[in-house]
Amino acid sequence: MDKKSLTEKKSLDVVGIGNLNYDIIMLVDRFPEFHEKVQAKEAYFGLGGAAGNTISWLAVMGLRCGFVGAVGDDEIGNMHIEYFRGIGVDTGGIRRIPNRRSGVAIAVVSGQDKRIVKHLGANAERRISEEYLKPARHVHVSSGPESIVEEAIRAAKRAGATVSLDVGEAKLPESIGEVDYLMMNEDEYRRKFGSLDLRLCPARNVVVTLNGGGAALRNSDGEVFEVRGLSAKVVDSTGAGDAFDAGFIYGTLKGWSIVDAAKLGMLLAYLTVKVMGARTAVRNIGGIKKAAEHLGLELPL
Ligand SMILES: Nc1ncnc2c1ncn2[C@@H]1O[C@H](COP(=O)(O)OP(=O)(O)O)[C@@H](O)[C@H]1O
Ligand SMILES: [Mg+2]
Repeated sequence: MDKKSLTEKKSLDVVGIGNLNYDIIMLVDRFPEFHEKVQAKEAYFGLGGAAGNTISWLAVMGLRCGFVGAVGDDEIGNMHIEYFRGIGVDTGGIRRIPNRRSGVAIAVVSGQDKRIVKHLGANAERRISEEYLKPARHVHVSSGPESIVEEAIRAAKRAGATVSLDVGEAKLPESIGEVDYLMMNEDEYRRKFGSLDLRLCPARNVVVTLNGGGAALRNSDGEVFEVRGLSAKVVDSTGAGDAFDAGFIYGTLKGWSIVDAAKLGMLLAYLTVKVMGARTAVRNIGGIKKAAEHLGLELPL
């Protein structure tokens, strides 16, 4: 079957697989000492979780999205499902786990120093259903328990989808050669491969986001590119990597070059670091076009 008729047959553009969390973020002048309370100068709370953030962007940008995840049978679980339904994400792949609490992440930020405590909660009960992945053109996996990442990649490939993996700090999966787009930040890449030489990584295409904004890329022909040019004053970087992933995935699914796709990723990360909260900057294509024009960034939007 040619690519076009396959695309027409698929009823979902992207299925995200990963955590759904509730984020609490506090900006402080300094961290508390032992047995001390300090006042935050600003606070934010809202829905988060890396894959959930990426899918939120993609759905608001107009792609047909689904999600594989798990939430507790609590008020936060309800909020995740209602939010996704509100932006048109199919929630048929999200399990509600009785007697479990939804995942939570608490971040305390002081200047460049960000300290996070997370609780996996119901996320641990995520199950991959190959049936659910079948209608997807593309599956995006964000770092999770090793065995689930491995299973997700294999199931996505069997379903005939392309795969991106934001592996973050997690171990590289055995099936890394099957991953179409492997994503991580430059510190994570250096820790895994000892340098920023993108040919050391066996994934088909490699996408490494750079500190301060932008990305380094290696395509399947071994060509290396760098995209830079948008650097913001960071207010809160929560969800910026997830926003980058969304821009990149959107571009590749529209058939753009990986350089243009990474430029859109860079823009969405830039918009995200300027505000508090992982999903605060999420906007539709019209809003993204406006921001790109304002910044003089040329994109095939
Ligand atoms: N000053 C900045 N201006 C614009 N983008 C930035 C800036 N600093 C970091 N970024 C981008 O934000 C994203 C951060 O992602 P990452 O380092 O993976 O963090 P996380 O996974 O915690 O969100 C990357 O795409 C990076 O290039
Ligand atoms: Mg990241």
